[in-house]
Amino acid sequence: MEPIIKAKDVQYCTLQCPDLDVQEQFLIHFGMHTVEKTEDLLLMRGEGPQPFIEKCVKGDKKFVSATFVAASKEDLEKLSNSDDFSDIEELSTPGGGYVTKAMDPDGIGVEVVFGIEERSDFSEVSPYPTNEGTNINRVNQIKRYPKGSYPKIIRFAHYGINSNNISLALEWYQRHLGIIPSDKLWFGDSEDSNTPLMGCFARLDRGSTPADHHSIFWLDAKNQSEGVPGLNHVSFEMLNIDDVFMGHEILQQKKEEFDYELEWGVGRHYQGSQIFDYWRSPFKQTHEHQTDGDMLDNSVPCGHINMIENTGGMPGDAPGPSQWGPPINLETFGDKRGV
Ligand SMILES: [Fe+2]
Repeated sequence: MEPIIKAKDVQYCTLQCPDLDVQEQFLIHFGMHTVEKTEDLLLMRGEGPQPFIEKCVKGDKKFVSATFVAASKEDLEKLSNSDDFSDIEELSTPGGGYVTKAMDPDGIGVEVVFGIEERSDFSEVSPYPTNEGTNINRVNQIKRYPKGSYPKIIRFAHYGINSNNISLALEWYQRHLGIIPSDKLWFGDSEDSNTPLMGCFARLDRGSTPADHHSIFWLDAKNQSEGVPGLNHVSFEMLNIDDVFMGHEILQQKKEEFDYELEWGVGRHYQGSQIFDYWRSPFKQTHEHQTDGDMLDNSVPCGHINMIENTGGMPGDAPGPSQWGPPINLETFGDKRGV
């Protein structure tokens, strides 16, 4: 079935938080910069061209929505004309643009935008080239990071949702936004129709242009959050690996004073292969630093991983928590506190 549109990127996430001063402080330590702050709205940016990458509104803790980018105004109109999406509105946030909105089957907000302009003060920040083994990219250039500097975030990269019906959610995103599955996690044999689907990583279909291994991922809410659908985590791509580790160091230094909580990291994932580090904000909404993820075009078929037998179709493609890094605490990862 042809999707209504194929989204070409993700742009920002929107969270509801009880105290925007506290959230702003957390996001600054996490690596963002304040763009705009009022009594009930906070906009934060990274080093990339997007005018903002996290939007926070004041209120009870809640994940409000994630924002995808349409390839054209016509695509936005196509979505807006479909049953689930709203009329197109003009955005009043920095960069302008247009938006249409919907709710997914879990009641999670989805925004699709077009025409948000890049920030006017944007200038490209490049990572230092990396020397690895015989792959020498940096000669006569000294690598230095100022001690205590905040990590550099490039962009909002993906988000995770605890879902009450992963198949239904995937089908909805496939139909509306052209999302395609990258890896499915099964609690047993995927060939057996009685096997429960425990997780799914899904990506944008950009044809032959590579996309992140996942822009969205679902875990089973019954296991994660007592059947309550909502936020598992939001994830941000860092400039490079140093920024993941520098972020880890800074948040470790601040965690007691500011009530941050290390959830899991630093390690390297299996599905997506990113180097990751997960932190809970004072409102327990998990934010991930990540870098060096897999990029796939639309020719790569979906992987099916048996979580009981640890088989994933490719040697070493285990579903287990990480390729390296500390053990995951399955009691807390994506539990109900951040939903
Ligand atoms: Fe993630």
